[in-house]
Amino acid sequence: MERPFPTVAVVGLGTMGAGVAVAVARSGRRVIGVEAGPSQAARALARIEASTARAVARERLTAEERAALLALIEVGDDLAAAAQADLVIEEVPEDLELKRGLFAELDRICPPETVLATGTTALSVTRIAAATARPERVLGVHFFNPVHTMKLVEVVRTVLTSPQAAEQVAELARDLGKEPVAAGDRAGFIANGLLFAYLNQAAAMFESRYATREDIDAAMRLGCGLPMGPLALLDLIGVDTARTVLEAMYEQSRDRLHAPAPILGQLVAAGLLGRKSGRGFYTYEAPGSSHVIAEEASEAEARPAGREVRSVGVCGSGTMATGIVEVFAKAGFPVLLAARSQEKAERAKAQLAKSLERSVAKGRLTEQARDAALALVTPAGGYQDLADVDLVVEAVAEDLAVKRELFTTLDKIVKPGAVLATTTSSLPVISCATATGRPQDVIGMHFFNPAPAMKLVEVVSTVLTAEDVTATVLELCGKVKKHPVECGDRAGFIVNALLFPYLNDAVRMLEEHYATVDDIDTAMKLGCGYPMGPFELLDVVGLDVSLTIEKVLHQEFREPGLAAAPLLEHLVAAGCLGRKTGRGFRDHARR
Ligand SMILES: NC(=O)c1ccc[n+]([C@@H]2O[C@H](COP(=O)([O-])OP(=O)(O)OC[C@H]3O[C@@H](n4cnc5c(N)ncnc54)[C@H](O)[C@@H]3O)[C@@H](O)[C@H]2O)c1
Repeated sequence: MERPFPTVAVVGLGTMGAGVAVAVARSGRRVIGVEAGPSQAARALARIEASTARAVARERLTAEERAALLALIEVGDDLAAAAQADLVIEEVPEDLELKRGLFAELDRICPPETVLATGTTALSVTRIAAATARPERVLGVHFFNPVHTMKLVEVVRTVLTSPQAAEQVAELARDLGKEPVAAGDRAGFIANGLLFAYLNQAAAMFESRYATREDIDAAMRLGCGLPMGPLALLDLIGVDTARTVLEAMYEQSRDRLHAPAPILGQLVAAGLLGRKSGRGFYTYEAPGSSHVIAEEASEAEARPAGREVRSVGVCGSGTMATGIVEVFAKAGFPVLLAARSQEKAERAKAQLAKSLERSVAKGRLTEQARDAALALVTPAGGYQDLADVDLVVEAVAEDLAVKRELFTTLDKIVKPGAVLATTTSSLPVISCATATGRPQDVIGMHFFNPAPAMKLVEVVSTVLTAEDVTATVLELCGKVKKHPVECGDRAGFIVNALLFPYLNDAVRMLEEHYATVDDIDTAMKLGCGYPMGPFELLDVVGLDVSLTIEKVLHQEFREPGLAAAPLLEHLVAAGCLGRKTGRGFRDHARR
């Protein structure tokens, strides 16, 4: 295919436009930059010169390459110059009337074959295209900030855009070293559409005081491997921008989960827009600074001391139980590994030995530390020996009847004053607590899989949990090198309540044929820095497990938007459960 668009005009050379101009010039194309007036044009050129000089200083660019690309960029303030371009990319401020006016003018100025692209984030590309007489040659080209590092480009087609024009723009994006994904004209497109709904839920979670901002952010970073927590990210994006994007999304979807959380409006009204104004969800050293100022932790000081924990019991012999035993044993706690039979307990200990062996092989653990940890673990068939431990962590099957029965048994056996913890991910902790005569001693300790590697523990207090029990578990997490976050006893706790609605949204996007599995995964990885795309993650977690969690969330909150996507139910019914069955959203067997 011939190199598309040898000459590209970029209108508006601010944050995005300047980055796009440089990226296009680097591909050897001529760039005609257009700004609003002579002073803006001079500033824009200075910005481009400065950013490319920084790139040379950081050795991302040689001085020769810089000179060559600068020679390809001209900057002026006469829109008529755009007539010489094969493609015009508009990057002016996010204002529909401004963009529509500009497109009407470009339509008049440019030859009929010129393709016109808008850089809008949340405005309707269709409405912008309607300002021209060539809607088949109008599309959206959504770059991410900063343009030079972010590889994702969403190429947005309206119902009228010609597939050819979209393919040519995708080809250009590939030529710039980017990964284009195809999206339809819907507020937020793929990446922001999925991201902002999640950010909104996080803001609402904070607003309802379900957890602190630090705990919400830490939970998503450590529990999902995200590069930033949602509230810190809202501060970075700008609370006002986020609210505008959500308004646009709600306008189109009428989904209450897209209606901006009231706190966003309050922050905007108060001028607390995030980092740029020095305060948003967090307070920063100065406007524009990324340095958060810690606020006084008065509540933590008021907390009573925890109970002493010298020995630990873990009930269960599966993946989680074995992982949790490893966590405690490595931290030097004697652990009683209590399973239903001696044989199961011995087998779990053998699994643990293998896992420790792998750590030794990878150089993460010394042989002495491995032997010391193993020596601390005593396998037991049955629960009688738990009588003297100070803390029991239950990690048996995710079935309420099974767990309640176990808690009733523990209540009879374990000494008074011991802490009884459940590692359930989706059952109410309070239902375990009320199976005992000591609900004040029962708490949730939600570890993540694999427990030895994942730093996060959600510490779930019920309305009956004693404060010193919460304190015990928080202190203990520190001793076993885990990061505890505190939350209340409701479905999904922090992580799953924010993660699974997002995964469900992704499935719905697919179900609506809005975008493909690959494009959605790519968009989230490259546009938001997620370690895995939603479909990769669903296939790893298991579609059946995901469906169960989504149903629990829907049942708890009765939010229509949380109802599991029918496609997920269909795949589960068909036995496509993800990697474990060889097929889920992708076919793993054939790879
Ligand atoms: N900033 C981001 O993170 C980001 C990311 C993706 C997309 N976007 C979208 O990209 C577009 C540009 O955003 P930005 O952040 O670069 O804005 P910006 O405010 O940094 O830059 C806009 C530039 O357009 C110029 N301008 C205004 N009116 C003009 C006109 N009539 N003719 C020519 N130039 C004009 C301004 O002088 C300014 O330099 C917006 O639609 C925005 O939503 C922004």
